[in-house]
Amino acid sequence: MLQLTDITKSFGKLQVLKGISLTIGDGEIVSIVGPSGAGKTTLLQIMGTLDNADGGSVVIDGTNISKMGSNALAKFRNQHIGFVFQFHQLLPEFTAVENIMIPAMIAGVGQKQAKKHAMELLEMMNLKERALHKPAELSGGEKQRVAVARALINNPSVILADEPSGSLDSKNKEELHQLFFDIRDRLHCTFVIVTHDEQLATITDRTIHLKDGEVVKEESIREESANQQVYEPMSGLEYGNDNENGNLDLSGTIDPEPLTDNPNPFEEQL
Ligand SMILES: Nc1ncnc2c1ncn2[C@@H]1O[C@H](COP(=O)(O)OP(=O)(O)OP(=O)(O)O)[C@@H](O)[C@H]1O
Ligand SMILES: [Mg+2]
Repeated sequence: MLQLTDITKSFGKLQVLKGISLTIGDGEIVSIVGPSGAGKTTLLQIMGTLDNADGGSVVIDGTNISKMGSNALAKFRNQHIGFVFQFHQLLPEFTAVENIMIPAMIAGVGQKQAKKHAMELLEMMNLKERALHKPAELSGGEKQRVAVARALINNPSVILADEPSGSLDSKNKEELHQLFFDIRDRLHCTFVIVTHDEQLATITDRTIHLKDGEVVKEESIREESANQQVYEPMSGLEYGNDNENGNLDLSGTIDPEPLTDNPNPFEEQL
């Protein structure tokens, strides 16, 4: 699903990543832990194509993104990768449902379909009643759940999260972590989560310990790898069919409109 080979990265004279190789399987939930400055965010940004490595390769869903141009990369990122950051980074002037719709509209999905899917995701997050609230009118936990819904709208195969519960209290933290596992079970998404939260690290399928730009330890919690687990079909919510990869196939429900020369005005703000 996600394969990093010998990734190196320096900022000036400081070598931040010293040859990292990792393979993350389909549907795995992996945590990355380590002291401040270990290179966790840098690694996640490279995995997410938001930053370039100096050396090595990144293969996501069978595509080597290391050699892609910036336009192709932006499109690839929009369609394959969802991001959740420590601070929600929702756009303040838009409602919850609009914030969730934006990446779908950038991908060329019509407004009606994008809204329908965004409302379904809000329902899955138990936030249907908050659809018309702006970020300032949501609690911290609610904002983070909206951010998760936004990350899911384009049916990505991987969600990359950088300290997603870092700004939450313990109750909201637990809820958010549980949500990641629920989403994995329902949508078969892969998760890579950078965290300082020890409790979360103990429940993920695998924990990668990073120190001074190197993987110093890996711990697998489950004997049986996530790849071998059997995923039950989604219960309760019906908003698409699982395709053979277990990912949601929205081809029957979404009516894509071709991307025009006039890029979505939201794109600049994202
Ligand atoms: N754009 C940059 N320019 C120069 N140095 C940078 C840049 N980004 C990160 N660094 C340096 O690279 C090192 C790794 O940073 P990174 O943000 O990856 O750490 P981290 O493991 O995520 O830490 P934290 O747990 O504090 O978030 C740090 O020493 C940081 O100062
Ligand atoms: Mg960081």
